[in-house]
Amino acid sequence: MYSGASPQSSCSPKGARSPQSSRLVVRRAIQSDAPGIAWVVARAFKDKFNPAFGTEERATRALTPYVASAMTRRGNHMFVATIGAAVVGSVSVSTQKSPAPGVIGMFYRAVGFWSTVRALCVLSFLSDPLPAPDEAYVEVLGVAPDQQRRGVGRALMIAAEEMARSLHKRRLTLYVTANNHGAQELYLSRGLTVRRRSRSFVGWLLFHAPGFWRMEKVLA
Ligand SMILES: CC(C)(COP(=O)(O)OP(=O)(O)OC[C@H]1O[C@@H](n2cnc3c(N)ncnc32)[C@H](O)[C@@H]1OP(=O)(O)O)[C@@H](O)C(=O)NCCC(=O)NCCS
Repeated sequence: MYSGASPQSSCSPKGARSPQSSRLVVRRAIQSDAPGIAWVVARAFKDKFNPAFGTEERATRALTPYVASAMTRRGNHMFVATIGAAVVGSVSVSTQKSPAPGVIGMFYRAVGFWSTVRALCVLSFLSDPLPAPDEAYVEVLGVAPDQQRRGVGRALMIAAEEMARSLHKRRLTLYVTANNHGAQELYLSRGLTVRRRSRSFVGWLLFHAPGFWRMEKVLA
């Protein structure tokens, strides 16, 4: 289990064959993880990033500098899950909303003008809320498609919750799309409950997501 006091935690993912080579580690992300995180996020969230960037390859290119920059953002605590040398998942815990500086330039250099315009339009519909002072907001929990259902998402949620506790936050919060039943099951199993359900015509149009659930866990 991740502990704020220790640099990393490790455990064996479900179905692991070799305990040494396939050890799951959850730790704070570092700059050199950015390409791996971007790769995972582009694929885990292809329903969001394909409409924005067109292809997973283009999304990975644009997201790599963005992830590297987001890691240094004040109030953003990013974790990575690795197996061996491979990044297999990541999550961020946000306690402040501060703009990612230079995002337009990053996207422009990576994918060009028109793809940047398209991506900014599409992604503007997914912008995250401003966390309240007592709130730790979970963002972009993603696991590589070929590593899902092996305990990686749960390990990242445990790390996120421990981070929130170490920051003395009272609530762990997030949004999940209304038709993302796998993620909802994970959050319910971690003790989060549904606080609000909202419908979204734009979400349905762009991402086939008919709405969003706001979920929350009060941290004792
Ligand atoms: C949601 C996601 C992060 C879960 O990660 P994961 O590593 O596959 O999840 P875990 O293996 O840790 O699963 C833990 C528990 O969550 C639930 N769960 C996870 N995926 C599920 C699925 N597809 N269907 C039903 N339950 C699921 C189960 O209760 C599971 O426990 P079990 O395997 O013992 O039954 C992963 O599927 C993912 O990256 N999806 C795409 C991106 C995404 O939707 N992120 C969430 C945004 S809000």
